[in-house]
Amino acid sequence: MKGFVSAAAGVLLSLSLLVDAAPARAGVNPPGIAVASAHPLATDAGIEVMQAGGNAFDAAVAVSAALSVVEPTGSGIGGGGFWLLHLTAKDAAAKSAAQNKNEGSDVFVDGREVAPMAATADMYLDAQGKAIDIASRDGALAAGIPGEPAALVQLASKYGKLGLARDLAPAIRYAHDGFAVDPKLAHAISENVSRLSPAAAAIFAPGGKPLAAGDKLVQADLSKTLQLLASKGVAGFYQGNLAHTLVAGVRAARGIWSEDDLARYSVVEREPLVTYFRDYKLVTSPPPSAGGIALAETLQQLEVLGWTDTHDAAAKHLVIESLRRAYHDRAQYLGDPDFVSIPLTRLASRDYAISLARSIDRKHATPSSSLDAAAKPAVEGGQTSHFSVIDADGNRVAATMSINLPFGSGFMVPSTGVLLNDEMDDFAASTTASNAYGLIGSKANAVAPRKRPLSTMTPTFVEGPNGTLVIGTPGGSRIATMVLLGILNFVDGADAQTIVAAPRYHHQYLPDVVQFEPGALSDAEQQDLAAMGDTLKPLSSTYGNLQVVLWKPQTDVLQAAADPRAVGTGRVVLTAAH
Ligand code: DON
Repeated sequence: MKGFVSAAAGVLLSLSLLVDAAPARAGVNPPGIAVASAHPLATDAGIEVMQAGGNAFDAAVAVSAALSVVEPTGSGIGGGGFWLLHLTAKDAAAKSAAQNKNEGSDVFVDGREVAPMAATADMYLDAQGKAIDIASRDGALAAGIPGEPAALVQLASKYGKLGLARDLAPAIRYAHDGFAVDPKLAHAISENVSRLSPAAAAIFAPGGKPLAAGDKLVQADLSKTLQLLASKGVAGFYQGNLAHTLVAGVRAARGIWSEDDLARYSVVEREPLVTYFRDYKLVTSPPPSAGGIALAETLQQLEVLGWTDTHDAAAKHLVIESLRRAYHDRAQYLGDPDFVSIPLTRLASRDYAISLARSIDRKHATPSSSLDAAAKPAVEGGQTSHFSVIDADGNRVAATMSINLPFGSGFMVPSTGVLLNDEMDDFAASTTASNAYGLIGSKANAVAPRKRPLSTMTPTFVEGPNGTLVIGTPGGSRIATMVLLGILNFVDGADAQTIVAAPRYHHQYLPDVVQFEPGALSDAEQQDLAAMGDTLKPLSSTYGNLQVVLWKPQTDVLQAAADPRAVGTGRVVLTAAH
């Protein structure tokens, strides 16, 4: 199997704090539970429900909902996301028997937003056919139909043990009782206050004064909305009074949602994309994420090029060149697999990786302009959220959720506390326009009713000689590269803390530049890469928010680490036997 991609039958997949626990006895199960997320209270919520008898899937609901409250800039019930699940053999068998169907042990729960029925391919273009950026980024017209509430219900009811109400309890508490604003949130509020709708501004900048670090943030309406979800499940959000209020609020702000859009939303369970790198198996995101296919292409190119480590410019050059080719393919081929045919088997095949790798010159950068098709430049991404969880039975969740730009569309539906996403900007507004991350697209990613916009979110599991890694991050177009670098560091023997802290560099085909964080490339490496023909773009700040759980069954080590660039935490709690 090594070197091949297995994917869904039929689909065109044809298709911090580091805690290190290392007790004496190695075993088949992890020595405890672990959560890494972008906010301490969200991490605590995951630990709380697992200590109350829940599994990793209960924790996933608790962490997702908590992030909706305590990190409202990044993700929430007004948005969507991808939840990658690994069920231990025991749980997979129990579920399959109970539901009388065969289920794999890895499931990709696609709770991505969908375009409303009234959406059209030219809805963000002016009379001259030019994209109006602000229309797909700010306000109610930018919002897709949220998928996160439906995904949380699905996770709790189908995979969890405690029930939705218990899983949502920490989030409801945080929203109702309030919590102290952290410095990152305070900064985001002050940066975005001018684009917040009146209802959002009333919450995050009461009386016109942006909340500062340490101020208490109470979200009474959001707490009521979460309670409705807890008591009524999907119907609590997508039907009835709340649905009516959401649609009325959106339409009053020139949005195009209908109650039918909400009633018809459904989560899609997809077969994850599986690929191999040396002795490692990757279980990762299929379309509508572009991330998994980017990992499959880059890692297989690196393997056939004989990758050993990334400690000098010659090795980094290979990473950059393989990324250039993978992101080029993204622009050409990828979109919602329920709408377009993606040659995924070919793109992820070893033969194709060999042909790409053959086109790499070890001494010279390939100008992106020499790869065919047009594309556009990128800017920085700011939000979205990832968390990683493992329970003591070995069930795992890697989840990346988003409302897209910081505070999403900035539009909060009055009296609901629901801040809406601006995920519609992840569509290609035209074949010449770029989105907020500079990504271009082909017709494969054009807007269409009920279609999911292409994403880069890449929650991923890696299994191999160095153990099991649960990994992911926000960061717009740079997500797949960050996950790639994390995987290379893991294969190289790094621990969880080193993986999340390691400096980052990135190439995405166009713009034809190597972006890098301060300290990511030494002076000598910069000189070497420039001599090979790369254009270097040093960034003045860091980016990303990687969250990692790492378990080494051989030595019984369990680690959880949150990216030191932000405010999250990783926690490990050992089971009593240890
Ligand atoms: O789905 C996507 O790829 C984007 N909406 C993610 C946005 C993101 O990561 C912003 N964070 N920096």
